[in-house]
Amino acid sequence: PYPKALMTPLSSKLLQESCDEVTARWPSLDARAAIICGSGWSTVLDAATVLDTLEYRTIPHLGSPGVQGHSGTLASCELDGVPFLVFQGRRHFYEGEGWTPIAVPIAITKAFGIDQILLTNSAGCIHHDFQPGELMIITDHINMMGANPLVGATLEGWGPRFPDQSSVYGTKGIERLRSAGGKAGVVLHEGVYLATSGPVYETPAEIRMFRGFGADAVGMSTVPEAALASAAGLNVSAVSCMTNYAAGILDQPLSHNEVTETTAATMPKMQALLREWVLSLR
Ligand code: HPA
Repeated sequence: PYPKALMTPLSSKLLQESCDEVTARWPSLDARAAIICGSGWSTVLDAATVLDTLEYRTIPHLGSPGVQGHSGTLASCELDGVPFLVFQGRRHFYEGEGWTPIAVPIAITKAFGIDQILLTNSAGCIHHDFQPGELMIITDHINMMGANPLVGATLEGWGPRFPDQSSVYGTKGIERLRSAGGKAGVVLHEGVYLATSGPVYETPAEIRMFRGFGADAVGMSTVPEAALASAAGLNVSAVSCMTNYAAGILDQPLSHNEVTETTAATMPKMQALLREWVLSLR
């Protein structure tokens, strides 16, 4: 019933082809971090100097994000002397092309020897004290996607057969975000992000169940990248923009418009936070 791609395990050969293309284009790149932009986050580093860009479609096996609010450009940037990469646009499992396009940015990050990765996303708030327009540091996650990108033969360089996940978002990374939030004057919640495969939003019954599980926010991304990056030994940090109340909290339907409108309205906070986060790498 699934397209073959969905069930196809990651291949070292394909990931290597993606990395070879980018490392050949940017042989002297020396970035300190990589940032993956979720829905609506692509303009978050507009204040940085863009040194060069690559369109996703020119990078083998990355493809193009099919969702409004996601552009498809990899930018090599610099802010106050800190060089970093920004993946403007992310690929999702629900796009049906399997794990490869989702793993490519992590593989590229790893290929450049970058050891810090910041994942961003938009999410529905489940926690009763959270509101749309607020930001949350992800301190842990729940994988409800029903699938995992590391299913398949053990890939060399992507951790052991059974990667430890007891501290995916390390204490130092959480501290770095807290301190960036403090400097930026942005209030940050902290909590557990739960990922479904999407593309449907959740039902109210699912949200009640997820709250019982200990989830504070819900979305359709980030968990596979975090699992891959942590297995590969990267320092993973992640932050969610609460874009809407999760299903059933308000008596109204959910829409992607609400998601893009809220990220646009929250952009100044997102920008201030990420600026301080990048500067903390000086
Ligand atoms: N559910 C799932 N994904 C989301 C949501 C949501 O409520 N908001 C933004 N992404």
